[in-house]
Amino acid sequence: MEIKVEKKSILDIEANVIIVNLFEGVKSPGGVTGIVDKAFNNVITEYVINKENFEGKFADIYELPIIEKGKKIIVAGLGKQQELTISKIRDLNAKIIRKLMNDDNAKKLVSILHGAGIAGLCPKGCAQMITEGVISGTYSFDKYKTTKKENKIEEFIICETDDEKYERAKKGMELGKIVANSVNMARDLINESSQYLYPETLAEFAKEHSGVKTTVYNKEEIKKMGMNAFLAVGQGSIHEPKLIHMEYKTDNPVRKIAIVGKGITFDAGGLDLKPPTSMLTMRDDMSGAAAVITTMKAISQIRPQIELHGIIAACENMPSGSAYKPGDVIISKTGRSIEIDNTDAEGRVTLADALAYAEELNVDEIIDIATLTGACMVALGTVASGIMGNNEEKIAEFIKIANKMGERFWQLPMYEEYGDTLKSDIADTKNTGGRMGGASAAGIFLSKFISKTPWMHLDIAGTAFLEKPNSEGIKGGVGIGVRSLIKYITLQDCDCHK
Ligand code: BES
Ligand code: MG
Ligand code: ZN
Repeated sequence: MEIKVEKKSILDIEANVIIVNLFEGVKSPGGVTGIVDKAFNNVITEYVINKENFEGKFADIYELPIIEKGKKIIVAGLGKQQELTISKIRDLNAKIIRKLMNDDNAKKLVSILHGAGIAGLCPKGCAQMITEGVISGTYSFDKYKTTKKENKIEEFIICETDDEKYERAKKGMELGKIVANSVNMARDLINESSQYLYPETLAEFAKEHSGVKTTVYNKEEIKKMGMNAFLAVGQGSIHEPKLIHMEYKTDNPVRKIAIVGKGITFDAGGLDLKPPTSMLTMRDDMSGAAAVITTMKAISQIRPQIELHGIIAACENMPSGSAYKPGDVIISKTGRSIEIDNTDAEGRVTLADALAYAEELNVDEIIDIATLTGACMVALGTVASGIMGNNEEKIAEFIKIANKMGERFWQLPMYEEYGDTLKSDIADTKNTGGRMGGASAAGIFLSKFISKTPWMHLDIAGTAFLEKPNSEGIKGGVGIGVRSLIKYITLQDCDCHK
């Protein structure tokens, strides 16, 4: 499927489907929808609005049967004008595309640039979101099914006649492709079975697909770096741990960032084995790593003038004769000792060393992204991810940017008292202490392994993997965080993005 922006009137393109829109309550359409209405004998006013009572509620879609041989019109509801945001445009387009992708008569689609008319949203943002919605909406993970979901659409064309809007829309469309392909790639990684995706294959994937210089360290090398906490978590598995370091560099970078992804390719819980229902989806415990690899990929294509490091301490948390045990004391990379209280609180143990490694790179800020705590999922459900850190301004900025991208983050507290449960009689800290306030306690634990660098921690335990489809129709791996990270890292924002 090819997505393009063309500087033509929507009526001048030979297409099977014409996609227009209506705001809620509009009785006589204006703009491009009005032009299409007139060209087809007022069919939208007289039939869709007056006879069928289409109200233009957000994401309501009216499919007008063949109006001419091989041609149909889709009227998409945009809802209330003042409530339209660019990320809603993405959801809407995901829905439209899912409706049409199996339609034998929908090979070539032509669409209005939703949102850039009277709603006055940024044409670049609107085109980006249409593109993202179209690519994201066609996503399915069916590599192991004998019958695959087909996408019969060959071309999707966004029309804009205004010179300036056209130029901006083209840029937005290009960016939308990069972002959406990264998100889909993250989904593929998350959905992949841990039977095939383990530290070694994850590292190979990063080498092949991150688009940047990738160095992979093996067990002996990790040992030499003193990353004993990371190694302890992986020691119960038949798969060797791998430390993955991806680097994107430019001359005179304006800032240096490290992103660190939790990369537990399967979390059985270790000797503190998970019950079956909790273990079922634990191939998703590398969703942070997936976000990091695919963000690197996007950055390698956008090429901002920054330095970006992607770090993943990849291993598998398994019970076995060689597994780490409750009561073990491990000397982490920073020299700080950790008493293992629960082997299922493994993510923070691997991150302790991964964060310490990141801090040695002398970056201006570190962001970790991790499916870290069930407690975060209990607190925020599947609706929002948790965010914590040691720099309030950066947290506020991240939340704002993420919201624009349609990803919700909610700050959780890091009051000192949450650390009380982590006190150990025999080591500097325990890895966990109890169920209450678990997301915050995990945040406090991580903070002990950062000495000075501004740092943010994203807990995506509840949002990384969905049992029920979200507003984009996505089930399973979501690719959460990718859109926000790309936007935050590149800061190529438009003020007009709502
Ligand atoms: N990977 C899990 C967290 C998780 C839970 C992710 C549900 C996605 C969905 C993490 O390693 C874990 O097991 N955490 C424990 C910590 C506890 C033992 C303190 C948890 O949250 O139950
Ligand atoms: Mg665990
Ligand atoms: Zn885990």
